[in-house]
Amino acid sequence: MAATGTDIGKAIKLLTNDELVAIPTETVYGLAGNALSREAVTKIFSVKNRPQFDPLIVHVPNLEKAKDYVLEIPEAAKKLADKFWPGPLTLLLKKKPIIPDLVTAGLDTVGIRCPDHSLTRQLLKELPFPLAAPSANPFGYVSPTKPAHVEEQLGHKIPYILDGGPCPVGIESTIVGFENDKPVVYRLGGLSLEDIEATIGTVTLMTHSTSNPKSPGQLKSHYAPVKKVILGSIEALLKIHKTNVGVLSFQNDFDTANQIILSPSGKLDEAAQHLFEALRAFDRMDVEVVLTELVPDQGLGRAINDRLRRAAAV
Ligand code: TXA
Ligand code: MG
Repeated sequence: MAATGTDIGKAIKLLTNDELVAIPTETVYGLAGNALSREAVTKIFSVKNRPQFDPLIVHVPNLEKAKDYVLEIPEAAKKLADKFWPGPLTLLLKKKPIIPDLVTAGLDTVGIRCPDHSLTRQLLKELPFPLAAPSANPFGYVSPTKPAHVEEQLGHKIPYILDGGPCPVGIESTIVGFENDKPVVYRLGGLSLEDIEATIGTVTLMTHSTSNPKSPGQLKSHYAPVKKVILGSIEALLKIHKTNVGVLSFQNDFDTANQIILSPSGKLDEAAQHLFEALRAFDRMDVEVVLTELVPDQGLGRAINDRLRRAAAV
């Protein structure tokens, strides 16, 4: 079992000794280690059972600090960082040699993010190094949004979980990179496309699954629970699947047992906050399949739908 608490001093001591600490962010919990230490970064891959071709996001306290680790910041990236950091936005920027190749899986860009959570911001401000932190779950599974989720899956492998309560956004950061200075969204997430486009104009979406993804978050099946997830019209699916079913709906009550409604009042932000915990809950329920439906494709709805499609992909 990992110890769980709010002791920043303890987290600093462990991280300084190349140990890993689970940290709260506004999106999901991260599995953090010193991004400049090969030893700590190697532990991250091994604890998560993560293939080394999957690069890690590096967390910094502010844009000023980010400059220590990247060669250049395109104008559009600066606009986004100025407006949305701290917040659920990761920027892919050309890396300086100080970032180990292991962190970026040999790519010449590094994912940089300034998370918006008071405990973790305090931690990042006090540490003399940035934190590499993927989501604190085994590779391919749903991300954790509460300390208990981390404890369940990784508690026996790490010494400490910094307890920052439930994650308010509940879905991973939006990843934005640049190709010939043109902005490209590689992962839909906690910062909406509408907010990004209102700031820097039209962006290209490259979140589709391919057999050779630039980022494994683009893999067709990822962010997946153990139970089989079927996506469609819940009403129609309930006519075919009659027993041992779970129902995950956006807003409507289907009046069945084993049902979770993401947001009875139909709010996408609330649905995003509850999505991953709901998928985890079905894994513990006595159901064989989970029937679910897409939510309105706007705001955080796009990221929710992206995760639902990947959860349902086989
Ligand atoms: O909200 C978040 O982003 C959370 C919290 C903890 O910050 N972190 C997170 O990390 O979701 P992770 O490792 O679970 O997902 C990061 C994704 C991966 O799909 C990875 O392939 C991609 O970002 N990524 C990281 N660096 C990249 C790079 N240089 N180029 C392309 N993709 C990159
Ligand atoms: Mg992840």
